Amino acid sequence: MDVPRTVTAALEDRPVEGATCLEAGAGVGNATASLLAAGAARVYAVTNDDGHARTVRERIGRDELGRTAAVTADLRDIPLSTDSIDLVTAHAVCNVLPPAALSAVAAELTRVATPGCHLVVDDYAPLPDDAAVRDLFALENATRELADGRPALTFYPAAMLRRLFAGYGWEFDRERTLLEPVPWTEGHVAAHAEAARSAAARLPDDLAARLTAESDRLAAAIGAESTGRMYSVAMRLPEDTSFGSNFQGETV
Ligand SMILES: C[S@@+](CC[C@H](N)C(=O)[O-])C[C@H]1O[C@@H](n2cnc3c(N)ncnc32)[C@H](O)[C@@H]1O
Repeated sequence: MDVPRTVTAALEDRPVEGATCLEAGAGVGNATASLLAAGAARVYAVTNDDGHARTVRERIGRDELGRTAAVTADLRDIPLSTDSIDLVTAHAVCNVLPPAALSAVAAELTRVATPGCHLVVDDYAPLPDDAAVRDLFALENATRELADGRPALTFYPAAMLRRLFAGYGWEFDRERTLLEPVPWTEGHVAAHAEAARSAAARLPDDLAARLTAESDRLAAAIGAESTGRMYSVAMRLPEDTSFGSNFQGETV
């Protein structure tokens, strides 16, 4: 399985060689594969999906099992020691975390990070007003809110994630564009339409039928679309945390 260029581009200016790394929200382990190839001493691939953790183990193979641990856990409660990680990567993860979960995840990533730790957060900027895929994501979110009381996707501006992590002591290093426009393929569009359909199936029949019909209509009308931006923000914890504030949260 090839590592997407966005993942390698986000990590190419980071000091991976010899580092103990955490891929937060591992999916199929793209960053894990990239970090291992770049000489990481150890990579923890953490996901809350058992199937994803299994896929990472199969992908990495026996030769690399000594340097890799694919762990099923919630990022709000990571089973790793305090001050144990030199580099954290969260690629395309924040968008699946609603704001309340995102804050808890930021606190937990900070807990496991060593002083001087590097953090790379890659995600999708809010879509332009005229993007057709916005309507599909809005439908998916509305359906998930009705079914589960939480949105499926949140598109955080890069500046917002910078400020959130700054509240936990992370210092901004650099921002770069990974994709502009983002190619939302027919496969992506179909997957999001399917996610809306699957949430709709948990709703009363007449509502489910209308939401399903609308998701089918939108997917057919959109097909594929290139729009929006994917960014990479790199941050770092100070080496010496004996100075400055102990502030660990956001203001009210
Ligand atoms: C969209 S995938 C991104 C995968 C990968 N980083 C990449 O770019 O290929 C999001 C991953 O985050 C995981 N995830 C979402 N919320 C999580 C949480 N609260 N705790 C742990 N993993 C979570 C999902 O199960 C999935 O493995």
